[in-house]
Amino acid sequence: MPQQKAANIRWHRGKISKEDRIKAMKQKGVVIWLTGLSGVGKSTIAVELEHALFENGHQTYILDGDNIRHGLNKDIGFSPEDRSENIRRIAEVAKLFIEANIITITAFISPYRQDRESARKLQKDGEFIEIYVKCPLSICEQRDTKGLYKKARNGEVKEFTGISAPYEEPLNPEITVDTSKMSVEESTRAILRYLEEKGYVKF
Ligand code: ADX
Repeated sequence: MPQQKAANIRWHRGKISKEDRIKAMKQKGVVIWLTGLSGVGKSTIAVELEHALFENGHQTYILDGDNIRHGLNKDIGFSPEDRSENIRRIAEVAKLFIEANIITITAFISPYRQDRESARKLQKDGEFIEIYVKCPLSICEQRDTKGLYKKARNGEVKEFTGISAPYEEPLNPEITVDTSKMSVEESTRAILRYLEEKGYVKF
């Protein structure tokens, strides 16, 4: 983790507290952290989930790996160090969104357990919901929606998760959805049910 370079800086507080925002927005900011192989359905679920929440009057935002790598994380590749830095930055961005009381949905492979644990530790208790979007590698490879598995197999794409780079399964995710058995709607409903049961949102 990088050291803070700047000296002589101090935190400046605003007048609006998190509690003020929770009352005004009728929701509790949280990050819903989707993790899983490429092509497993993280982005698809994120979009459905956001749509359902937004339709119900909630304020949401998606941080998606492929999208963020076009801007903020343009300088990031796929080495283990780069992936860690990718996740570290996203965890910090998610923290800001949570502070703004937004229901934040992240869709990153985030293959390393330790990086996900650091992302969790950065948030307050109950503000990090890890969702393991699960599916056998063979099925993701069969789907190959982006054609990347094929390229990974013939060596055109290096360090590809599941083929030539590791994916460390979550040990204690809050929720697991299996996209080889559940439809996008079923996965989305399972997440929504959890959010409602735990009081993050009201339907
Ligand atoms: S992460 O591992 O650092 O969390 P992230 O979610 O940002 O990855 O980006 C993954 C996306 O980048 C994949 O869905 C895929 O479209 C694309 N990609 C390109 N090269 C690779 C690679 N070597 N490994 C994994 N994904 C890759």
